[in-house]
Amino acid sequence: MRKPFIAGNWKMYKTIKEAVELAGSLAGALASEKKKVMIAPPFTALAAVHEVLKDSNILLGAQNMGPVEEGAHTGEISVKMLKDVGVSVVILGHSERRHVYKEHDHLINEKVKLALLNRLEVILCVGETLKEREDGLAENVVENQLINGLDGLQQKQLDSVIIAYEPVWAIGTGKTAMPEDADKMHSYIRKILGKRFSKKTAESMIIQYGGSVKQGNVRELMNMENIDGALVGGASLKAETFVPIVQFDKN
Ligand code: 13P
Repeated sequence: MRKPFIAGNWKMYKTIKEAVELAGSLAGALASEKKKVMIAPPFTALAAVHEVLKDSNILLGAQNMGPVEEGAHTGEISVKMLKDVGVSVVILGHSERRHVYKEHDHLINEKVKLALLNRLEVILCVGETLKEREDGLAENVVENQLINGLDGLQQKQLDSVIIAYEPVWAIGTGKTAMPEDADKMHSYIRKILGKRFSKKTAESMIIQYGGSVKQGNVRELMNMENIDGALVGGASLKAETFVPIVQFDKN
């Protein structure tokens, strides 16, 4: 049985004060929640949010990470710095990193390996653009991102990897993939993972869906066989929109 995992990606929003307030509200509202829950505030708020979350059941996530342990990498944040402020999960290969900041699969793979080596859990994001979908390339694109992103990993390391399928055309647009279409891609992702690693590993892995998830569509998405969680952007920025998503089974 795969345990549902709902994660909030706050992107480039929230000052420290705002982040602490929101984290405090979530820790209170979700105190008895049994699902796995994570929030990923911006780097500047991680230390302060860690203080708020440290006795809660909400995990602290980061939105990105540098590809090497330390060195002359102006503007980057290292894996050790993330661990130092209490981060336990890192989102890698988000489409905004891939498309706006031109991160490629090889770089993302370096980060994945480094994060796992340092015992962080990884949420590896994959997903096609609208053009790629229209050109019939969605499965190819996702397959390449998966195979390249997970290159060189041992099967047992997959226990600490979560895949987030986020079709780029559904992010921040209000357009959600139809649950059946999303499930089809999730099933394809599981098939690829099964071939590359093992069927058992693929069956146990959490595959989140991301792209305009909200209270009104989360239940239907989570009811699909291969959708095990959600990576939520916009709707994770307020307790009143994120809490009902986490508690989708109570809607
Ligand atoms: P939205 O929920 O705002 O579409 O963002 C999804 C996302 O990119 C989460 O990582």
